[in-house]
Amino acid sequence: MSTYAEDTRKVTTHRLIEMKKRGEKISMLTAYDYSMARLIDAAGMDVILVGDSASNVMAGNVTTLPMTLDQMIYHGKSVVRAVKRALVVVDLPFGTYQGNSIEALASAIRIMKETHAECVKLEGGAEIRESVERILSAGIPVMGHLGLMPQSINKYGTYTVRAKDGSEANKLIEDARLLQEMGCFAIVLEKIPADLAARVAQELTIPIIGIGAGGGVDGQVLVMHDMLGLTQHFSPRFLRRYANLAEIITKAVSQYVEDVKSSDFPNEKEQY
Ligand code: KIV
Repeated sequence: MSTYAEDTRKVTTHRLIEMKKRGEKISMLTAYDYSMARLIDAAGMDVILVGDSASNVMAGNVTTLPMTLDQMIYHGKSVVRAVKRALVVVDLPFGTYQGNSIEALASAIRIMKETHAECVKLEGGAEIRESVERILSAGIPVMGHLGLMPQSINKYGTYTVRAKDGSEANKLIEDARLLQEMGCFAIVLEKIPADLAARVAQELTIPIIGIGAGGGVDGQVLVMHDMLGLTQHFSPRFLRRYANLAEIITKAVSQYVEDVKSSDFPNEKEQY
């Protein structure tokens, strides 16, 4: 068990900023359901993200785009019920905040009221400025997300590393500055060159959490199914697998099938 699990004080957005000041790295992982969120929280995770990656790993969609607000609220509620210590962030799904800041605020309010999560995450910079400002003005903390933004996959056409060229890198830096100026409490940087991510983390005072953005940032986030080895055919360079649950689960389930078929299960002690 991680020694960080012994610190039972609730993680807040303010505490994350203090952690950055102290140089303490921030741990963040996705969760989508009660049982896993309980284990992840008890293991000492700082931030639990109810990511719209639920679309991929829970619902089996190819992209995050089909995720609805009602579905995010269902996952958010399940996670919040389990969590005692971690800060819980819920993604605003595609189509619930872009282009209409009034709708963005209504979406964020539904997430806060119905899930009891503590903040929301939105993908984008200058393009979603009005939405971010309006949500922040209602007292809802916002985490930004720049670099590879999976909700824009149809614009990119590929999940390759972003901001490798100067103009995209400059826009990312400008967007990160803007998100901080507006009052976001942290930013996720996904799949960008490590030196660019480190530069943003050094310049900004709010925490920068990376996924495929190198070690020079203030914290790391991974998708739970990937790091536990539940997904098997997704192996980007940035992913470290900490377990092979696919193998463990397949073995256990196959054994159960064998035991039922052979009448080994249930035995005398396993019945009334
Ligand atoms: O939805 C998600 O899981 C995310 C992470 C990849 C940061 O946004």
